[in-house]
Amino acid sequence: MGGKKEKMPFKRAGRTFGKGIRSGGGAPFKKMRMRLTSSVKVHKTHPKEVILVLDFGSQYTQLIARRIRESKVYSKIVPYKITVEEIREIKPKGLILSGGPLSVYDRGAPMLDKEIFKLGIPILGVCYGMQLICAQCAGKVEASKEREFGRVELFVDNNKDLFVNLPANITCWMSHSDEIKKLPAGFVRIAHTLNASIAAFANRARKIYGVQFHPEVVHTQRGTQILSNFIFQICGCLPRWTMDKFVDTTVKQIKERVGQKKVILGLSGGVDSSVAAMLIHKAIGQKLHCIFVDNGLLRKNEAASVQKTFQGHFHMNLAVVHAQKNFLGRLKGVTDPEEKRKIIGDEFAKVFVDKSKKIKDAAFLAQGTLYPDVIESQSPTGGPSDVIKTHHNVGGLPKNLKLELIEPFRELFKDEVRTIGKYLGLPDTILKRQPFPGPGLAIRVIGEVTDDRLEILREADERVLEEVKKAGLYHEVWQSFAILLPIKTVGVMGDQRTYENVVAIRCVSSVDGMTADWVKLPPELLGVIANRIVNEVKGVNRVVYDISSKPPSTIEWE
Ligand code: XMP
Repeated sequence: MGGKKEKMPFKRAGRTFGKGIRSGGGAPFKKMRMRLTSSVKVHKTHPKEVILVLDFGSQYTQLIARRIRESKVYSKIVPYKITVEEIREIKPKGLILSGGPLSVYDRGAPMLDKEIFKLGIPILGVCYGMQLICAQCAGKVEASKEREFGRVELFVDNNKDLFVNLPANITCWMSHSDEIKKLPAGFVRIAHTLNASIAAFANRARKIYGVQFHPEVVHTQRGTQILSNFIFQICGCLPRWTMDKFVDTTVKQIKERVGQKKVILGLSGGVDSSVAAMLIHKAIGQKLHCIFVDNGLLRKNEAASVQKTFQGHFHMNLAVVHAQKNFLGRLKGVTDPEEKRKIIGDEFAKVFVDKSKKIKDAAFLAQGTLYPDVIESQSPTGGPSDVIKTHHNVGGLPKNLKLELIEPFRELFKDEVRTIGKYLGLPDTILKRQPFPGPGLAIRVIGEVTDDRLEILREADERVLEEVKKAGLYHEVWQSFAILLPIKTVGVMGDQRTYENVVAIRCVSSVDGMTADWVKLPPELLGVIANRIVNEVKGVNRVVYDISSKPPSTIEWE
């Protein structure tokens, strides 16, 4: 960011489907065509105070927005091409210019509408954003002799406003190969490093600031403090963005919008759809109709547990569609992973539409779409053809379903949705569940998916989960699960030679699913899991442990 090293984000979310590697299958109820009519529209629920994050293509843009929201101020990401008129209309309390992959002196480097600098709205430029301010305000940016990547010591030269309450030096995270050679008129240096004589600057009269490092990443000490200083000290925001207020406003809006009509929601038991169900149920009670499709590819007791929680405990209107036969019938003889995913996505849409049509007066379809999903449909360049791109999960619920979308979390990050879930009383078993792929166990039974093989995997998987939970590691790792391999090996049980299946165990740590490392589970725990599987699961005589990281492997095997 700020000088060619940051590759264009390989677009941020924790899933690879829809990016040419894998497709379909995932969170299929999100498969509704949606259009982003305006990339800069601020949602009706947005509070009066908003900080706009102008996206120049950094992989950290979302992080900036999240950090600000963590400080209880609403923030929104907009393409850098936003016009001065649009900003005037939104009336943000401050603007943050993100990092980006290019150098400001590159041909075609993204620039800001210069009028924006004259609005009098406080601006903070981060990395490329800082260099951009410098370049557009008649300073000088050049390639530096000493590039800085990773942890660097920052010396604070002036600890007023932006750096108030900061020690004289902090460790910060740098990723740049350009540097400020000459400050624009009216700007002063407020921090430096050993290699960069100007690592942060300020024009206090115009409330324009820039930092060469990334305050949004955890590796920058007191980074959150720096962002808080900007939004509270400089922009004058108050910490008012809280999830309980969001719930109150959204519940009111949903109630008004839905009236006497009905809302359909595909419940998967995952966090997003579960919290969406809770929120909408709070707003309209029995007018919400949840549909849970049992595709026969779920883990042991999963359908029963969803039913118990939502129907039994929360008394929701929940229809469980038993479609195991449809899915397994269509998967018969199929071994190609992509084909499996396609079939599952397609079948889901069919089953879901069939069921929806039977719900009279249904006028809305609710989905747990999150803000990152929405942002990923936009391009940082904000070009006209990019803006009207469809969501990466878009598949094919037919248009004739004629349902209006309700997406209460379109503006929220996952942690915010979890906070709402907690506030609404959703148990940790759902809120802190490890991710589970839409195509379910079908992509963990390698080769053909049959009833028998699913049963073996389900039993083995159950034992992995039980033991990982017992060891207190379930919430510590990203995912822990079993895979059934399509080979048999020789073993010996009692005096008998056996020729049975092999189960692999996969346990990974990750922050977002984009990259992952295998977890060094204690050998004793691995021993217990292997023993239990071989002894208790009929048809398995060997257990192996997957010690590959992502990349080059993926988390799932298919
Ligand atoms: P991979 O295997 O691509 O997985 O490293 C990254 C994360 O995404 C999950 N995953 C999916 N989730 N539908 C989903 O909803 C899918 O088709 C899908 N494929 C993978 C996977 O479990 C991991 O957490």
